[in-house]
Amino acid sequence: MTVDYDVRDLALADDGRLRIEWADRQMPVLARIRERFEKERPLDGIRIAACLHVTTETANLMRTLRDGGAEVTLCASNPLSTQDETAAGLVAHHEIATYAIRGVDQHGYYKHINAALDRKPMITMDDGCDLVTVLHQQRQDQLPDVIGGTEETTTGVIRLRAMQSRGVLGYPIVGINNADTKHLFDNRYGTGQSALDGVIRATNVLIAGTTVVVCGYGMCGRGVASRAKGLGADVVVTEVDPTRALEAAMDGYRVLPTSDAVTQGDIFITVTGNKHVLRGEHFELMKDGAILANAGHFDIELELTALRAMSKSRREVRPEVEEFDLGGDRRIYVLSDGRLVNLAAAEGHPASVMDMSFANQALTVEWLVANADKLEKKVYDVPVEIDKDVARLKLETMGIRIDELTEEQLAYMEEWEEGT
Ligand code: ADE
Repeated sequence: MTVDYDVRDLALADDGRLRIEWADRQMPVLARIRERFEKERPLDGIRIAACLHVTTETANLMRTLRDGGAEVTLCASNPLSTQDETAAGLVAHHEIATYAIRGVDQHGYYKHINAALDRKPMITMDDGCDLVTVLHQQRQDQLPDVIGGTEETTTGVIRLRAMQSRGVLGYPIVGINNADTKHLFDNRYGTGQSALDGVIRATNVLIAGTTVVVCGYGMCGRGVASRAKGLGADVVVTEVDPTRALEAAMDGYRVLPTSDAVTQGDIFITVTGNKHVLRGEHFELMKDGAILANAGHFDIELELTALRAMSKSRREVRPEVEEFDLGGDRRIYVLSDGRLVNLAAAEGHPASVMDMSFANQALTVEWLVANADKLEKKVYDVPVEIDKDVARLKLETMGIRIDELTEEQLAYMEEWEEGT
């Protein structure tokens, strides 16, 4: 092997290669970008460190960047989301330096991030901002070498904006999440489907007839609520934002304060991006058998320290399902240690939707390299031309044609005199 790596077992590589190929079939936009990158090599000589969920979809993004000329290193952005066979396939069949093992502890997780940073990236690609945080807190001497970065997720963009407003952001970073072709699709349809997929794979419960409580009605919450409703659940939404709560009510869901919702729910799915959304006072009120899952980025939405402290005992009852015995015939079930249920208990967002998110990533890296000297140390949105290009390409690959404005309509949009 010519690349450095730390993965579970290279014997898994053939399985990984097949799975990467399977995902690639659902990622035609990225494939087209890859073909162009192969010819034009816009990333020649660029070192990229990516801290992303190590999935088959991510593997295809890594291949695209590599074919564009970049020297790519990948580490995991969550200890439980790594697909070990994908990591092995990336190393053995695609020669991409990969540091990721499912289930590593905190020390192993940060060791992998540091291994990626040891390769002196000029571009960082992050999902949740852990790589950027280590770089800014512990390896500031490397900051001058970095020309730019991208951030995949809502949670990460919030952290970057905090860094920018405190004047500590060391280089320009583009928030991929803000592209329409990312959050309107990945967050809604991707999280919507895969969060339910995770709950179902872990528990095999019938969703129809249950009360599903969705905590948070951002793009991810909307997706989770609509998919739970589609499967026949009675859906309750909890929110802190009045506009979002109103939207949930008009979308047809019951909206309740968490303190009321906890007495009614059978399944709880948190997607707020905040901490301790379900906590001790709520666990006290939940029904026997309540199932708790988190689909927000970090594992702090459920206050598991409180739940552990309240429990008489706990045990794993199925893979990804831990039972907490609260005494008095009351048990609560937590999925995947409160980590992203869609990635830990299922396979994350399906490839077809990651196609758009990762097309934005690839094209934005190309844009960063081309514009590095003009950019400031701040958080940028994905350029609108890239966003529209991704939408156009996705439609094309889906065989969907749309209209164009006529000359008359174009002129009408520019004038102001014509009225009633
Ligand atoms: N985030 C959510 N789903 C994902 C996937 N399939 N691959 C990479 N990152 C993801």
